[in-house]
Amino acid sequence: MQTILIVEDKQSMADMLARTLESEGYSVRLALTVKDGLDSLSREDINAVITDLKLPDGDGMEIVKAVRAGSPFIPAIVMTAFGSIEIAVTAIKKGAYDFITKPFDPDHLILLLKRALEEQAMQKENLVFKHEFSKFLKMPEIIGLSRQWINLMEKINKVAPLRTTVLVLGESGTGKELVARAIHHLSTRAKNSFIAVNCAAIPKDLIENEIFGHDKGAFTGAAEIKPGRFELADRGTIFLDEIGDMELSLQSKLLRVLQENEFERVGGTKTLHVDLRVIAASNKDLEKEVSGGHFREDLFYRLNVFPIVIPPLRERREDILPLARHFIALFSSEMNKKAPPLSPESERMLLGNDWRGNTRELKNIMERAVILCDGRLLQPEHFNFVNCYTEERIGTEAPLSQIAQFAVKIAEKSRIETVLMQTGGNKSRAAEILKVSYKTLLTKIKDYRI
Ligand SMILES: Nc1ncnc2c1ncn2[C@@H]1O[C@H](COP(=O)(O)OP(=O)(O)OP(=O)(O)O)[C@@H](O)[C@H]1O
Ligand SMILES: [Mg+2]
Repeated sequence: MQTILIVEDKQSMADMLARTLESEGYSVRLALTVKDGLDSLSREDINAVITDLKLPDGDGMEIVKAVRAGSPFIPAIVMTAFGSIEIAVTAIKKGAYDFITKPFDPDHLILLLKRALEEQAMQKENLVFKHEFSKFLKMPEIIGLSRQWINLMEKINKVAPLRTTVLVLGESGTGKELVARAIHHLSTRAKNSFIAVNCAAIPKDLIENEIFGHDKGAFTGAAEIKPGRFELADRGTIFLDEIGDMELSLQSKLLRVLQENEFERVGGTKTLHVDLRVIAASNKDLEKEVSGGHFREDLFYRLNVFPIVIPPLRERREDILPLARHFIALFSSEMNKKAPPLSPESERMLLGNDWRGNTRELKNIMERAVILCDGRLLQPEHFNFVNCYTEERIGTEAPLSQIAQFAVKIAEKSRIETVLMQTGGNKSRAAEILKVSYKTLLTKIKDYRI
């Protein structure tokens, strides 16, 4: 929840503003004087400030100055008396985000505040990440504002320039490959190759040949020498994706390469030396795989030098909307469309507990939504949530029939919520629109815990 500081000496006005903001879902701190306002700013985590200019113990510009000095990302809106445009202009020159003239319509203030918060969030995003990664032209943009994601980026920045082996862990679709590529691009090896091996996708009997290559005549049909991925990655980075799915016999061969930086091609006699940076990734709990006997313990320790765990999106909710907007912009520009904004209902839905997908799913949903949307506003019905059940919620053993039931529930719930929102919570009107009886609707509202 975002916290807004209101500095206003007239109690009735302050109370009215507080009520308005609270009804919009903000948390509010009230200060009646400059001193209280500065106090609150220094003690609390404030996301935006709305301040009067004439205060009993001084000028509201003191507050604006303190905000500017503390963080570039907190917008300060000043309230000015009718007819004091010059003062308002000066306030903006000195760093206020915007001004609003008293008396004003509370809705106007809310709009202004929302825009301010959104703009600042966007600026922050730009500053933190675009700046750092835009240099690496081959890199897709990396988006993330949550504390967890920023910590992760800090870790990446620290380990990237070294030759240290990195193990990237995280659920499917959380961004493991993106992180691996970022590490490579931020390293001194960036001008050399980043070679990925998907240990789960290459058939078992081919993987050795893929990784190590083969010599002429190694087997029937091996007419030429074929360099393997390790050879191609020499002086660059080798990315061993889905390492948890690698067969045990191959694991021991891999261990040797990692220990000695040397190997032979299949059917070859010559020992080849390589200089590699190794990044491995898995969506499996490798420690569990070790105790289950499916993964070599020594290889695990070899790889687990610098683990980076990417939390699932549901544990870093602050990233959901920035990512969603990023994907909307991406697909809209690909499709030559104007990027539609997310409606408040869509935002609520993405942030709600029913949506538990990871970044890849979010990306897919946004692609579909941009296709379906007429370009004006992205509404919940543009998201085809039916496809978004997650194995984690339904279990990997679930029969198809159960998955279908589950998908129906999600779709129904989403539709009912949208219609209820349209009717302002009027259930009989919603039942009419949905063409079900009032009683059926009530049952569903109860069952789906709407
Ligand atoms: N923080 C992010 N900012 C921008 N795009 C992201 C971010 N995280 C993930 N993506 C995008 O989401 C998609 C999935 O990411 P990626 O392929 O790296 O995930 P993964 O963990 O390797 O998934 P899997 O386990 O399915 O292989 C990619 O298109 C990637 O570019
Ligand atoms: Mg991957």
